[in-house]
Amino acid sequence: MDTGDIDAGMDYSAPPYDQWDSAQPYEQWDHARRHCPVIEEPGFNFTDEPALPRFTVTSWADTDRVLKDWRTFSASINAEVMRPYMGELLLGLDGEEHRRYRNLVAYAFRRSTLERWRGELIEPVIDRLLDGIAPAGRADLVAEVTSKFPVQVICGIVGVPTTDHEQFNEWAVKINYGPLYPEEGVAASQAMRDYLEPLVEARRTEPTGDLLSELVHAEIDGARLTDEKIYGFLRLLLPAGAETTYRAFGSCLLALLDRPEAMARVLSDRSLVPAAVEETLRWETSVTMVARRATANTEIRGCPVPAGSSVSVISGSASRDETRWDDAGEWRLDRVPQQHMAFGTGPHQCLGMHLARMELEAGINAVLDRLPNLRLDPDAEHPAISGYAFRGPPKLPVLFDPP
Ligand code: HEM
Repeated sequence: MDTGDIDAGMDYSAPPYDQWDSAQPYEQWDHARRHCPVIEEPGFNFTDEPALPRFTVTSWADTDRVLKDWRTFSASINAEVMRPYMGELLLGLDGEEHRRYRNLVAYAFRRSTLERWRGELIEPVIDRLLDGIAPAGRADLVAEVTSKFPVQVICGIVGVPTTDHEQFNEWAVKINYGPLYPEEGVAASQAMRDYLEPLVEARRTEPTGDLLSELVHAEIDGARLTDEKIYGFLRLLLPAGAETTYRAFGSCLLALLDRPEAMARVLSDRSLVPAAVEETLRWETSVTMVARRATANTEIRGCPVPAGSSVSVISGSASRDETRWDDAGEWRLDRVPQQHMAFGTGPHQCLGMHLARMELEAGINAVLDRLPNLRLDPDAEHPAISGYAFRGPPKLPVLFDPP
């Protein structure tokens, strides 16, 4: 272990599960990056052999290496944990098998393919949500707008009827919490499949241009997706795409609301919206960590890592690495753009990153257009971004001028 000048007083362990939503881990990770960039701890409850250690890497260089070296650091750990609930999981495959699966679903998530959804779906969805709050002059933007927006977009892209969005989302949440509540997770997984089956079958004979149609007809070099892969992919989409994007949307709005000067600049020059989104993803990504498992005895920064050990890769910490960014803990609109780690890197780099950026940019623009004189509600508690594995503001109480 690189213990360097490790401060014996710093506790690097994860908080108990019931404190994950309110946790503030950045002080711990900033300290680890500087003093103990590779943390070694005993194995982790439901994922590890008790005899094997678990490692956590926090620096840009180690994060980048682990995520790119898929032969040594396998993504199979994701399948171990989520297979009972999600089925055949893209996120849990390596090498050629992963590449073939990903190629078959990737077309739908290319920037050029997604462009059609901007005017057809993304802008109308955010506009409808804002119609619901605009007359009131006050709202909790998380409860009423950000938490509903990406779910509805993904359901629209998949081809789930609008009336069923809430049900679909409820199953997705239960599937995601499967490792903690297995019975509910398995039941939701089956219910989602039963619901989707007739829609999938209908698209086989009559494609409608949605993602379901795309998935059943996708073919590369004669290879097609099996039914198990189609349902596995559909079960992954909401947890991967909605939980993440809605939190980042809230964090970006809060970054602007807390900085009136930056807000004024973005309001008067909308070409700055992408910079505000990108800086928020770097500074406060909504997904702070991903997992891998060592396939062979190896080392990270000279620290021996036995085969079979799990490795937590703290992408949130990597995006605040001081060797790459000055004052990395500060949100700055004028940073020179360079790659951050919010979307990971290597073969599993986020498939939905172009969609996430499109939603966030459209979402921020619509909020600024539709809610004039937007400001935090001075009578409510000042909102803060919180969370251990997933981060965002749980509430965003604001005032604005009604039309
Ligand atoms: C701000 C929003 C988002 C963040 C921060 C985020 C973050 C990530 C990260 C870090 C990974 C890599 C996981 C790993 O290496 O183990 C990932 C993978 C993935 N993301 Fe996202 N994501 C976001 C939005 C989306 C959206 C909108 C979608 C699609 C609707 C999506 C779909 C996926 C999929 C399918 C994968 C797995 C790719 C693979 O295994 O090849 N994500 N995401």
